[in-house]
This record gives sequence, C-alpha cells and structure tokens, in this order.
Amino acid sequence: MTTGLRKGLTSYGDAAFSLFHRKAFIKAMGYSNEALNRPIVGITNTGSDYNPCHGNMADLIESAKRGVLLAGGLPMVFPTISIHESFAYPTSMFLRNLMAMDTEEMIRAQAMDAVVLIGGCDKTLPAQVMAAASVDLPAIVIPTGPMSIGHYRGEVIGACTDCRRLWAQFRAGELSETDIDIVSGRLAPTVGTCGVMGTASTMASIIETLGLSLPLSATAPATHADRRRIAEASGKRAAEMASTGSPTPSQLITATSVRNAMIVLQAIGGSTNGLIHLTAIAGRAGVRFDLEAFDQLGREVPVLLNLRPSGIHYMEHFHAAGGLPALMRELRNLLDLSAPSVAGGTLADALAAAEAGPNQDVIRSMSAPVKCVGAMAVLHGNLAPRGAVIKQSAASPQLMQHVGRAVVFDSPEDMAARIDQPDLDVHADDVLVLRNTGPKGAPGMPEAGYLPIPMKLARQGMKDIVRISDARMSGTAFGTIVLHIAPEAAVGGPLAVVRTGDRIRLDVEARRIDLLIENDELARRLTAWRQSPPRPRPTRGYAKLFDGAVLQADEGCDFDFLLQNGGSGTATESGN
Ligand code: FES
Repeated sequence: MTTGLRKGLTSYGDAAFSLFHRKAFIKAMGYSNEALNRPIVGITNTGSDYNPCHGNMADLIESAKRGVLLAGGLPMVFPTISIHESFAYPTSMFLRNLMAMDTEEMIRAQAMDAVVLIGGCDKTLPAQVMAAASVDLPAIVIPTGPMSIGHYRGEVIGACTDCRRLWAQFRAGELSETDIDIVSGRLAPTVGTCGVMGTASTMASIIETLGLSLPLSATAPATHADRRRIAEASGKRAAEMASTGSPTPSQLITATSVRNAMIVLQAIGGSTNGLIHLTAIAGRAGVRFDLEAFDQLGREVPVLLNLRPSGIHYMEHFHAAGGLPALMRELRNLLDLSAPSVAGGTLADALAAAEAGPNQDVIRSMSAPVKCVGAMAVLHGNLAPRGAVIKQSAASPQLMQHVGRAVVFDSPEDMAARIDQPDLDVHADDVLVLRNTGPKGAPGMPEAGYLPIPMKLARQGMKDIVRISDARMSGTAFGTIVLHIAPEAAVGGPLAVVRTGDRIRLDVEARRIDLLIENDELARRLTAWRQSPPRPRPTRGYAKLFDGAVLQADEGCDFDFLLQNGGSGTATESGN
C-alpha cells in the first residue's frame, strides 16, 4: 500500500516526477529526507479569529505534534473551514456540510496516513467526523474542550444556558442595561466551548462514546493541562494508527457504537442538535439511524447527568466527577462494552480505568437519576408525519400534555416583528407556531425554535409556553419546545397549513403532536397549499447546492449525494 509522502501523487503523467516535484517543494520548509520518510499524520487547524471556542487551537496543535513526533510520525498541519455559532450567517447549520466537504476533500487530496481532527464549536466536530467517516482514513478527534465557569453576583454562570436565562430577565425588566453589559463579560470567561451540555459538549460526548477520541476528551476543560496532555496522547496514538492503518472510522462507527451513543445522548440530557448530527454521522458510515429505537431508549434510559440545561452543574464539574467514563460506568448494563475504541481497546477498558467520584452530585446513579426518563422524546402525529423531537428533560412538566390555540408566525422575521407587540393576541395557554425555518426554508434550519416569551407575557412573569417549529434550538436552551418537525413547512409539510386560532394538542407521553382539525379539512388545506409568496430559490453557488441537496431533519440534514449507500444498516442491531 502506498503510504506517506508517496500517497495521492499529483497527476503529471509521471509518478516518479510527481514525487520528485513534491519533495522539492516541501523541502523548502526545511524537512530532511529522514523526516519525509516517516508516516504522515495530518492535523486540522480550525483556529480563527472569529472562533473563540477554538482559541486554544495553537496549544493543542503544538501538543498533538509533540505526540506524533514522540511516536515516530511526521505531523503536517493544514487549515480547514472554522465555524462559530455567533459568526455564521445565516446560520452555522447552513455551513456544516460545506465544512464536512472541505475537510473530506483536503484529507483525500493531501498525503497523510492518519488524521487528527481538532474542533469544538457546535458544527465543527460533526462536520469533521462526517468527513472522516467518508474518507475512512484512521482518525482521532481532539475536542477543544469546554470553557471554565464564570461568576455574577455570587452566582455561577456559563455560556450559554445562562445567556438565555439572564437575557430573559433583561427582557422582563429584571436586569438593567448596565447589568446585562456586565453579564456579557462574565458568561465566557475563557476560550473553549460552551460550558453546559449544549451541542458542543453533546457532540464531544457522542464522539468519545463512539470511540473516536481518547477517554476524558469530551470533558477536560479547554485551559487545563489535562487537555494538552490528551492532545499529546492523541497525536501519539495517531502516529501509531498511521503505521498500522487501523482502526478506521468504519471500524468504530457501527450499529453497536451508534446505539451506545444514543444511550449516552439520552443520559447526558444532550442537545437536540446531537440527534441530527449523530444521524448524519451514522449515515456517512452506512448505518441507518432509527428514530423509534432512539425514542424507546428515551423511555428506558434516565438522565443521569446533573448539568445545565437539564440540571444545575457545568462541564468542568462533570470532568472533576470522572467525565464520560464515570457516567458510562453507571450505564454499563445498557451499553455494549465490546465496542472498540481509537485508544486501542474497548469501551470496557475505558470504564475500567474510570476514576471514582464519591460524594458528588454531578453524575447520578441509575437509582437516583436527575430525570426518570431520557433527554428527548420523538413525536409523530398529523403535524409531524416524519417526526419531531422535544427535549423533555428541559421542558415544563405541567405542559407535557397540553391543548392550546395556535398563534402562527410565518418566518423568523415575522416573529421578530410581532412577538413583542403589545397588541399581539396571545395568552399563556396558547401554542406558538413558527414555520419556514427548516433545512430548506430558512435556509439551514436556524436555532430559532426557542421562540422568546412574548414581552407582554414575560412581564407578567411567565417562564414557559408551548412552542413548535421546523427549526432547531441551541442545546443550551430550555422550555417546552417541539422542534425539527418533518417534513418542514417550506416543502409543504402540514405545519404550512396551520392557521392562527386552530387548536393543537401536545401529548409527550403518547408521543403525539396533532392539529385538531378533521382529516378531510387537513387534506383540503394541503392540496390547496401554495407557498405565498413563492420561496425564493438560490440561483448560484453553495446556496444553490444546499437548496437542491439538503435532506430533512430526520435524515440528518446531510446532502443526499454524500450519504454512503443511502444508509444501509440499522442502529438498533446489536452487532455491526
Ligand atoms: Fe461555540 Fe457554544 S458557541 S460551543
């Protein structure tokens, strides 16, 4: 097998010349023949002045390079796209597949025998793992790690569950302009990813469960020495994998490991975005993500992790309590511990080495969970024929069965223009409906599903109201919020024909979300539906590619042409 510098030679019609040409150029960087003869480990550089979640990138790259050199490999750092949640217009999800394509093609195009993927902010890790799964080159992930906690008026705070809670207090007039300005300087006190169980922490946890990163990779804080030691160890392991050629992502991302990841996703109170990304990652590996199986696990697997937004603690507390291995030890009777890990052993080995964290309240036992059920429930009904999701662990128990009058917003812009109007006809027991915010509709399925409480209700002290949409929401958000309704309104899903004044029933126990009109009437409305005005369709560039190829939420919002075999396995099988 061709390895190292000889891999993927540029086509000049003369392979020997191509190698000579390549060597001649790379020697400009001062490499010796001895260095160039080693196995090559590519290391992604996703550092960017726009991405504070990756603000420790230079340190992690240095540590990973040291590890590669210690194990006899040659580290080669290369840049890819970087995406930060608050610097991604129109929304980071619109760019995830672009980053996945960029990362995939750069891994393919450049000579490397293994790759170290360093990412962290929400869409970056899923994009990188989707890419690695498609290339199927030995790969190891180093998350940038969660940021440290902040403090405000004696209270522990952190991005970004507290961003929303404190912003809601500001909207309700409980915090002044000065207060909220001080808060903005305290929510993210260090570089690193959001310090709660948001999407970044969820994906880092899923990736560790899938066996694609070393134990404790998901939780070590971004600024701790542990994080840099993990990076060094990951670089070392990558060099070993470059020599042996295994394990590859396809050996790690299997029906077994995806099922393990589903269990962990439920038990950590994970982000709803994690569901979409895990579906997409599984799809790249040819494993079909089974929403019904995931829902069933939600009835059996309790939330054990006492972290915001489902609980009260933060990621650095999770790390101190033993991190993911300690959590998975509590789940050992549910997990398939024979699943292999990039560390070289199995999940059982990681659990055996887990540190005990006595006298802590962060990782609960199965007998004393944070919530008796899992993080998420999958809903169906005449409003969501292909499914919808609710993060039941962060919802209000009294709203889990609810019938209310629909108050419809046609787009995020419509919502922004009207939601705080004093004359908005809205009451506490209504159901707020937001549509045209799905994968194609917005486009990119923005995190608009966390509709703010209308100002007039917020000022009355109201903290939650049922909200439904075809959008996503941040993993750091909380509330009784139904998301990812599929098919989306922009392609004629039933959400498109809901009218203000219709009644909607949410029944989480029965896993239903229904529009309470006669079937004939619903069919009439769907037949007559025409988007008005017609949805503008992009005519060029990435936006056109996205519009034509993006799949619905239940398919992970990947591009249709990037799936492997259209998803051939099933994540409910007990073996690969
Ligand atoms: Fe980057 Fe939250 S904004 S992880």
